[in-house]
Parts: sequence; structure tokens; C-alpha cells
Amino acid sequence: MSDLLILENIRAGYGQAVVLPDLSLRLAQGRSLAVLGRNGVGKTTLINTIVGVTRRFAGTIRIAGQDVSRVRPEQRAQAGVGWVPQERNIFRSLTVEENLTAVARSGPWGVKRVFEMFPRLAERRSNLGGQLSGGEQQMLAIGRALVLNPKILLLDEPTEGLAPIIVDELLKTFVRLFRDEGMAAILVEQHAQKVLGITDEALILDRGTIVHAGASATLREDSALLERHLGVSRKPSAPKPKPGRPQPAA
Ligand SMILES: Nc1ncnc2c1ncn2[C@@H]1O[C@H](COP(=O)(O)OP(=O)(O)O)[C@@H](O)[C@H]1O
Ligand SMILES: [Mg+2]
Repeated sequence: MSDLLILENIRAGYGQAVVLPDLSLRLAQGRSLAVLGRNGVGKTTLINTIVGVTRRFAGTIRIAGQDVSRVRPEQRAQAGVGWVPQERNIFRSLTVEENLTAVARSGPWGVKRVFEMFPRLAERRSNLGGQLSGGEQQMLAIGRALVLNPKILLLDEPTEGLAPIIVDELLKTFVRLFRDEGMAAILVEQHAQKVLGITDEALILDRGTIVHAGASATLREDSALLERHLGVSRKPSAPKPKPGRPQPAA
């Protein structure tokens, strides 16, 4: 299995601020990776660094053998990076269909195939982007990344703020994309249990550093690890004080 994406000793952030001090990872062709971690740990910064919209202080990024460390985001897109940003940047004043045709590039993923994948979008093909629900906008954002025919899809908290029924629909689509279509992907998510069942590998970030990396199926069963790094089983009514950190006065 050849590595599709390689990050080696990446040091990146914004301006003078370093958010990711020294991060390395590899993802093989056709594999899916969940990136987990609490709010503010650097998940989006990791995605943005692959896309090329952060400041890179050191390290290299390779996509399908090509060193893209120094190239602009457009060239990284050409090298195969498909990005679905956290803020779902669709064209609000173009129709659904125009949103897709405006960016489509030749390859197996065309507008027709996106409509097959998301029947809701097909029904709304003539509606303006701005008229769509949050879930439909997310589907359109994913469709826009797909018609660029990427080698790897980067999904930044795609289910954030969506109704549970839409979340289920999206997760089913991801299963189809990752398992049936063999699309390599990085899926950022704050809620581990949502995505550990549908990804091959998982890593947990804490303060810009990878504190765990391994098979998603293994992590899913490791409640101690999940609790330690993500606090998933912690009840909101009885928060545990963090060791070594003084609790603020009420
Ligand atoms: N544009 C930016 N400029 C400066 N600092 C930023 C910027 N975006 C994020 N940060 C900082 O980087 C850290 C990681 O943020 P982010 O990657 O968005 O976390 P996550 O996606 O895990 O919630 C935070 O401390 C945040 O304040
Ligand atoms: Mg984020």
C-alpha cells in the first residue's frame, strides 16, 4: 500500500503563533482517518495546513508522491486535495447545480453522480445555495469537493450543528464513500463514537500534538483512553477537576 498523504515534522500555525509544534502522519490510498480532539486542540489547523492556508514553519507535506509543502492552495487542490471547510463555503447566490458545475473537473465524479449520492440535492438542483437547509448546504459543500475529483477528501466537522436525522444520512454517505468508493479521507469530529465505526484509523489531538494513533475499531473499545483524552463518558453534571490545574473561583 502506497502512502497517499505524508506529513513529516510539520510545524504550523498563524502569524507568530505555533499551533502544531511537530506533527507527522501517513495515510495510505483508500484509507479513512478520524481526527478527534476537544475544541481548540488544532484539528482545523491540521486540515488547513494540508490545504495550505496556515503558516508552515517547518516540515514537509507530500500528496501522491508530490512535495506540496511550498505550493499554493490551488496547486494542492490540483494535486488532489478536496476540502470541505468547517464553514461550508458554497456560493449562496448560485443554484445547487451551478455550484457544482462551476467547479467541476473531469474525472469519475460528475454532477450526475453527486446527485445520485445526495438525492436531496437533486430535488433542489434549481434552488439557490442560500435557500438550502444547513444539512443540504453541507451535502452541497461535499458535492463541490467531490466534483473536483480529489485523491483525498478533508472533512472538517461535517455534522456539526445538524439535526440527528441529517447526521445519520451524512454518516451513511461517508460509509459509501470510504468503503464502497475507496475514497481516502480525513474526517474531523469532536464526538468520537459518531465516526469510530466508519473510519479505518483514528488519531487524537491535544494541544496540537498527536496523543494517540491507531485503528478506529480498537479505540472505540478503549473507554479509558476515550475518557482520558476526550472526556466522552464524563457526565456534564459532575465534571472532574483537571489534575494539576487550579479550579477557578466561582
Ligand atoms: N486564524 C487564526 N489565527 C490565530 N489563531 C488561530 C486561528 N485559528 C485558530 N487559531 C488558534 O489555534 C488553536 C487551534 O484552533 P483550531 O485548529 O481551530 O482548533 P479545533 O479545530 O480543534 O477546534 C486555537 O488556540 C485557536 O485559537
Ligand atoms: Mg475546528
